[in-house]
Amino acid sequence: MGTKMWAGRFTKETDERVNDFNSSISFDARMYKQDIEGSVAHATMLGECGIIEKAESEKIIQGLKGILADIESGKLQFDPTAEDIHMFNEAELTARIGDAGKRLHTARSRNDQVALDIRMYLRDEIPVIKKLTAELAETLMRLAEKNLTTVMPGYTHLQRAQPITFAHHLMAYVQMLLRDLGRLNDTYKRTNIMPLGSGALASTTYPINRQRVCDLLGFDEITQNSLDGVSDRDFCIELASALSVLMMHLSRFSEEIVLWCSWEFKFIELDDAYATGSSIMPQKKNPDVTELIRGKTGRVYGDLTTLLTMMKGLSLAYNKDMQEDKEAVFDAIDTTKLCLTTFIPMIDTMKVIPENMRAAAAKGFINATDCADYLVKKGLPFRDAYKITGTLVHTCIEKGLTLETLPIEEYKALCDTFDEDVYEAISLETCVMQRKAAGGPAPESVKAQIEYSKKALEALK
Ligand code: ARG
Repeated sequence: MGTKMWAGRFTKETDERVNDFNSSISFDARMYKQDIEGSVAHATMLGECGIIEKAESEKIIQGLKGILADIESGKLQFDPTAEDIHMFNEAELTARIGDAGKRLHTARSRNDQVALDIRMYLRDEIPVIKKLTAELAETLMRLAEKNLTTVMPGYTHLQRAQPITFAHHLMAYVQMLLRDLGRLNDTYKRTNIMPLGSGALASTTYPINRQRVCDLLGFDEITQNSLDGVSDRDFCIELASALSVLMMHLSRFSEEIVLWCSWEFKFIELDDAYATGSSIMPQKKNPDVTELIRGKTGRVYGDLTTLLTMMKGLSLAYNKDMQEDKEAVFDAIDTTKLCLTTFIPMIDTMKVIPENMRAAAAKGFINATDCADYLVKKGLPFRDAYKITGTLVHTCIEKGLTLETLPIEEYKALCDTFDEDVYEAISLETCVMQRKAAGGPAPESVKAQIEYSKKALEALK
C-alpha cells in the first residue's frame, strides 16, 4: 500500500506483521458500495455547504462512481495490503483524480465513516432476511392449508399427550416467524439512523449539514450525540440477537424433522434432493440439512456473544476492538440466509405421511383427557374423572388394549356413568374437532389462525 496516510507522525515503517494484523479489507471490502455511496453523499454536502469547491465535489463524485463501476465489472481488484475498504477507496480516488481526492475526507473520520457504512450494509441485508422469513411462513401456511384434518399426536416431554393436527403444529412455527419479522423490523428502525458528522468523536468545526447527508442517503434521522454516534454498535447486537432467535426457531423445527423422518416416526419423507446418503450404509437417507441448521445455530449464538463481549469493556468512544464487529455480524447474516435458503425448498418438497401420523396418534392414550372430560360433562368432578381414567389406562396397558377397544363392561365396572357414547367422545376425530377454542387444533380454529397470520404477515413485510 506504500506510505501510510499518517506517515508524517512516524519515523519508521509499520512492521509487516502489524500491517497484516491491523488490516480489515479481507472482510470489510464487502461494504465497498455503501462506502462509496456514503462518500458521494458526504462530498455532495461538502460542495453544497461551500466546505470544498463545487467543481471538486463533482470531480470526487464522478471519480467515486467510476470506482464503483470498475469494482462491479471486475476491472478493479481490492488491494489486499490496504488497511481497510475506506482507505482503499480513498487512495484509489486520489490515484484517479489527483488532489481533489485528498479533500474528500474533510470533516469526516473513519470512525463515523465506518459507523455509517455498517448501518447502510445492515439496512440492505435486513430486507433480504425478512423476505426469506416471510417466504418460509408462506410455505408453512400453504402446507397447513392442505393438512387441516391430518391428525397427529401432540407431545409434551416428547411423550404423546393430546391429539392435534399437522396444520396446527405447522402454524405454531408461523407464529414464531411472525415474531422474528417483528424483531427484524424493530432492529431496522434503530439501524436506519445516520451517524456521519460525529467525526472522530467530537463532531467537527466545519459548517456541515448532517440532515442533508441523512436525506441523501435515505436515513430516518441523524444520531444525537457524536460520542454515541461512533461508539454505538447496539444495532449490530440487536440484529445478531434477532437472528439468534430466528435460528433457534429453525433449529427446533430441524430437530423435529430429524425425528419425523426417522423410521421410528416416519411422519414425513424428505425429497431425495434434500437428503444425503452414507458412504458405507447403502440404506441410509440422512437429514443432513436439518442437522447442519441445528449446528449452525450455535455459530450465530457465537456471533452474538462475540459482539456483546467485544463491547462490554470499551470506554467511549471508538476503540479498535470494534473492528471485530464486522466478521461477527456478517457471519450471522450469511449463516441465517444460507439456512433459510435451503430450509424453504426442503420443507416445500417433503412428503407428509398422514397414515403414520394418525397411527401414532391412535396409540399412547392421547384421548385420556377427553375420556375424563366425558365424565366431567356428565357431572363428575374433574379430579375423580381423572383418577377413574387413570385406572382405565392402567387396565388397557395390562390387557394390551386401547381406550377405543376396551369393552364397555370394563368402563361400567369402574364407573356407571359411562355409556356407549364414550367411544364417540374419545374418537380422535372428536378429540380434535372439539378443541375449537381460539388457537386450538380444530380445523376451523386453525383456519382462523391462518387467516389472521396471513394478514399479520402482510403488515410485517
Ligand atoms: N477498519 C476500521 C474498523 O472497522 C475503520 C475505523 C478505523 N478507525 C481508526 N481510528 N483506526 O473499525
